[in-house]
Amino acid sequence: MLDHAPFADGLPHPSPDEIHKHAAQIVNWLLADFTALPQRPVGTMASPAQMQAWLGQPLPEEGQGLDAVLKTFGELVAPFAFRPNHPRFIAFIPSAPSYYSILGDWLCAGINLFAGVWLEAAGATQVELVVLDWFKELLGYPPGASGILTGGGSEANLTALLVARESLSFADRGRAILYVNQHRHWSVDRAARTIGLHPDQVRPIPAGTDFRVHGSALAEASTRDTDAGKLPWAMVATAGATSTGIVDDLASIADVCRQHGLWFHVDAAYGWSASLVPAGKALLHGLERADSITLDPHKWFAQTFEAGCVLVRDGQRLRDTFAHSPEYMQDVRPADDEVNFADLGLALSRRFRALKIWFSIKVLGIGWFRALIQHTCALAEHGERLLQQAECFERLSPRALSMVCFRYRPKGSRGDTTEEELDRLNLALCAAVRDSGKAFLSSTRLNEHVALRFCFVNWRTTPRDVEEIVELLVSLKEKL
Ligand SMILES: Cc1ncc(COP(=O)(O)O)c(C=O)c1O
Repeated sequence: MLDHAPFADGLPHPSPDEIHKHAAQIVNWLLADFTALPQRPVGTMASPAQMQAWLGQPLPEEGQGLDAVLKTFGELVAPFAFRPNHPRFIAFIPSAPSYYSILGDWLCAGINLFAGVWLEAAGATQVELVVLDWFKELLGYPPGASGILTGGGSEANLTALLVARESLSFADRGRAILYVNQHRHWSVDRAARTIGLHPDQVRPIPAGTDFRVHGSALAEASTRDTDAGKLPWAMVATAGATSTGIVDDLASIADVCRQHGLWFHVDAAYGWSASLVPAGKALLHGLERADSITLDPHKWFAQTFEAGCVLVRDGQRLRDTFAHSPEYMQDVRPADDEVNFADLGLALSRRFRALKIWFSIKVLGIGWFRALIQHTCALAEHGERLLQQAECFERLSPRALSMVCFRYRPKGSRGDTTEEELDRLNLALCAAVRDSGKAFLSSTRLNEHVALRFCFVNWRTTPRDVEEIVELLVSLKEKL
């Protein structure tokens, strides 16, 4: 008989008491970090050689224990980062989770449910359905639509294009044309390449002088392509462009998509949250007519990375695109009224992604999130006003949602500073802000000019932070 004594108790692992002590150490570390963060530098850089010298170690055969590893983490890992949740990190589109998203994420990791099939996680699946229902309600999307939480907006855009492509025959896939906003996020191009489109099949639609894409420009392009024997297929509009926050003219695009038989996808990864407030809802008018929508709760909805979502108007299409029923899954095939999220997207094994979103909305109430949108839009307005008052910055695109795009132009320099010189000065200013450690903002290009941007999504950012950032810009530009 097999002697089972050597493995009778499973593997040695810390007892619940020890885990409790270690968990408390981590909570204490996190809360100390959270409390001190606004007074700390926004970030610190390190070279790859330096990081390799500190962290590139041989695979350890023996464990070192939590104290030593937490010390290494606290001294050599965590400090060498720019912190997207810092109140003065206003670069790119940051993520600044509420603490209830963080705690919900911890619950998710702790319970480690398999949120792929109903039979293994009816509660988790139902919570995801509830969260999707809430998003549909906020966006005015039909209750019969379907959706799935993804790792982020890139995965959501890819998922949407895969669903849209299902309507094309194999023969048509080589001549189908995908229209995209000239100012789209690059994840759209990556998704197009991933689904096998040739670069010639991706047609950028120029934005108007208001930086928005309008239906008329799409109609012109689609008509031209039809006349040339191509197959106009789908349009990806943007609600909240990454550089400017600008929302396309969704209603007119929806009209053209209907007239020309195009699939209408809206990348609302950042802008969707505006639907929480009446002015934002008006801006997003037409979004509710999309065939599919990308939304990213880890952007302007106070969630930890990774929280993305795709909604599809005709819910059956998600299932038609992704469902499979291999023999080793026969025990978990869903009944007609059950949902297996593994059948609706790219992942089979998936964490309980909905928990942190559901948890934070339930604990704080949707009113808190509405206040977040109002607060961050007010910060953008405040920032724009301060830039105007400083008299050495010019706006490069209309303020949109919680973003402002501008550039430094030396006072009285109109005419005698070249565009190249302005580009150089603005890139230098952006780097100087970052190097100061006091704030972090990023640059982009608009109409060929280097632009600086503010993007406010953080519930902890105050008007005083915005004033400090503008004061910093003014003082640093004098040293350029
Ligand atoms: C408009 C837009 N779409 C998609 C994405 C990609 O989202 P993610 O980073 O969550 O993959 C971004 C990211 O900034 C974005 O701004």
